[in-house]
Amino acid sequence: MTDLSPENLAAARAPLQTAKSMPAGFYTSDEIFAAEREHVLLKHWFFAGREDELPNPGDYRSLETPGGPALLIRADDGKLGAFANVCRHRGSILLEGTGNCRRIVCPYHAWSYFSDGRLYGCPDMEDAEGFDRVENGLIPIRLETWAGFVFLNYNNDALSLLEHLGDFPQRMATHRLEEMRCTWKLRLESACNWKLLLENAMETYHTGTVHKDSVGAQVSRTLNTQGQWLCLQVISGRSIATLPGTEPGFPAIEDLDDDARKGTYFTVIHPTCQFAVAQDCMWWLNVLPLAADRSVLEVGGCFPETVVSQPEFEAKAAAYYDRWEMVAREDIGILERQQAALGSVLYRPGPLSGRDDLVQQLGLWVLNQLPNL
Ligand code: FES
Ligand SMILES: [Fe+2]
Repeated sequence: MTDLSPENLAAARAPLQTAKSMPAGFYTSDEIFAAEREHVLLKHWFFAGREDELPNPGDYRSLETPGGPALLIRADDGKLGAFANVCRHRGSILLEGTGNCRRIVCPYHAWSYFSDGRLYGCPDMEDAEGFDRVENGLIPIRLETWAGFVFLNYNNDALSLLEHLGDFPQRMATHRLEEMRCTWKLRLESACNWKLLLENAMETYHTGTVHKDSVGAQVSRTLNTQGQWLCLQVISGRSIATLPGTEPGFPAIEDLDDDARKGTYFTVIHPTCQFAVAQDCMWWLNVLPLAADRSVLEVGGCFPETVVSQPEFEAKAAAYYDRWEMVAREDIGILERQQAALGSVLYRPGPLSGRDDLVQQLGLWVLNQLPNL
């Protein structure tokens, strides 16, 4: 991390007109990645999916998180819970993939748990002195939801999700995101730093080149936000969730406010989640950092339940899914090249464009969470 010098960091913090991009170590250093894990990824809310993906008691989904394997499961009383996906006996993974179960049964020695996490069965434990079932339930992870979006947090002292979101709910009020349903998800592995994925998702400087065969050049404006999120709006009178040559198959949501009608909001909810909210739908880019140079990008799409229930929904939605996948793959392609270049000993922080304003802000938000930098 030698290039994370006070001079380079001061240049990254300078006003945009004179600022430089971040030093390479910000994206390549294992030490920085470890510090981010401790001070950013395990301290803040991260997105874990939609409530409507798990509608019934016993519905579960395992997931990878910054703190290790986790599971979401809906209890018999209808409450959604999140737990470490770790058996309390000797630590086997309990559930994989998605499904529905009445009891969670460990595949190793068959301890079992209720869907609310309490320990149910534990064979041959009579000899264990002081063993207490109540103390050996699954370890919960803090879970809060807004508008059907589920967020988790390993930090029990963190602000509430609503405080974290600031004025995000007001900005999105007329989209009525709580009435949406998740209909599609895609998991992509990418050989790049997690911050590159999010920085790229918050500038339209690259779209005319990287996406020349898909969405093409875009015009955007940065909107003011309060709370732990950023917002860029791509200006377009119609939804840009389908490619320019394909008319959106679904109508605009009724009674959108004036700003919402002007285009698509591209947001980052710090630290690892983008919600893109268009006139007719929303999609997310959710980033799971694995290592300094490795990330998982999950893309998911949601539509208002009124259109999801239409008979021709899937046929029309295919154009949206194709666009989301194509653009995500184009982005990963360029970001893997950027990550490779950041490994050069001759890399130097470069000057920024006025269109890189949110790139700079994203980097500084992370940098400012790290002690001594
Ligand atoms: S590790 Fe789960 S029952 Fe032994
Ligand atoms: Fe892009």
